[in-house]
Amino acid sequence: MSDRKVLVTGASGKLGSQVVKALLEELRVDPSQLIVTTRSADKLQALANQGVDVREADFSSPESLEKAFQGADSMLLISIDASGPRTQAHLNAVAAAEKVGVSHIVYTSMPSAENSPVMFAHEHEATENAIMESAIANATILRNNWYFENLVDFFASILQSGHWLTSAAEGRVAQLSRKDLAYAAACAVVKPAQGKVVLPMNGIQSMTHAEMAKIMDCVLGTSINMVNLTDEQYQAQLESFELPAPIVELCVTMDKHNRGNYSDGTSDVFEQLTGKQPQRFDAWLEEHKAVLQKLANV
Ligand SMILES: NC(=O)c1ccc[n+]([C@@H]2O[C@H](COP(=O)([O-])OP(=O)(O)OC[C@H]3O[C@@H](n4cnc5c(N)ncnc54)[C@H](OP(=O)(O)O)[C@@H]3O)[C@@H](O)[C@H]2O)c1
Repeated sequence: MSDRKVLVTGASGKLGSQVVKALLEELRVDPSQLIVTTRSADKLQALANQGVDVREADFSSPESLEKAFQGADSMLLISIDASGPRTQAHLNAVAAAEKVGVSHIVYTSMPSAENSPVMFAHEHEATENAIMESAIANATILRNNWYFENLVDFFASILQSGHWLTSAAEGRVAQLSRKDLAYAAACAVVKPAQGKVVLPMNGIQSMTHAEMAKIMDCVLGTSINMVNLTDEQYQAQLESFELPAPIVELCVTMDKHNRGNYSDGTSDVFEQLTGKQPQRFDAWLEEHKAVLQKLANV
């Protein structure tokens, strides 16, 4: 790599920490070439000790951002986890990147951001548009498909209860692992950029939920019962569990998205970017078997 400075936001997060690891350990970026940002620098003390430039940046405080992004040539903007105020926060980050002269911005978006029914899709669409309309010369929009890890982080109840409540019907989803998406983001931010591109970051299998459940049964020894519902029935079921309204809306709109095949489609885009294929679902389950079987109590 050249002497360009690479900046990664959200470096303390689950995705960002794996991006930084990939940059330093696999892509051999020198720590002195790397800038990382967080709202609390103490979280990244270990990286500072390695010679990485750790800076504080809060996207909701625009005045902090120009100083935080100063000197960056390529920047990975990792979408923040706070749905709601997120659009303005992301727009602040894009504006600051433009102002300090970042020449290549990489952004972690979502599949079909422009027309997906997912409740937060408009936040990604607005960020994509701001990047495309900005004076930043090069942009790589990574339309990250859903993480396999969501099975642990958000949908552990499928394993815990043995019932997969869904209104996704026969919709197909090309999920992949967070680690693979982190590696792809690391590759994107160090690669020489050529203009503005939108890349679907999909796995190598596009599966219905029922097909995923069958693979889970096979690898984990579970016996997942598919409970196919309409959107209205799914919503009523989730409400009966007294889940907060935004969580209910998120689950129902995600399955609407999945049913509409907004996350469908395999391609060689991931391989072209990274030089390798993403991990298959059965291999990911094998790798995390102990944790998943514990959740499923098998
Ligand atoms: N494709 C999928 O299935 C999927 C699933 C989950 C999430 N996501 C998206 O991918 C992103 C990364 O995932 P993750 O698992 O790494 O999430 P995560 O662990 O929750 O990390 C989120 C990061 O956002 C940063 N952040 C939050 N508010 C911020 C603000 N106001 N200003 C600057 N930084 C802020 C946090 O940094 P500090 O606390 O250090 O400031 C943290 O590092 C998520 O934020 C979400 O948009 C996608």
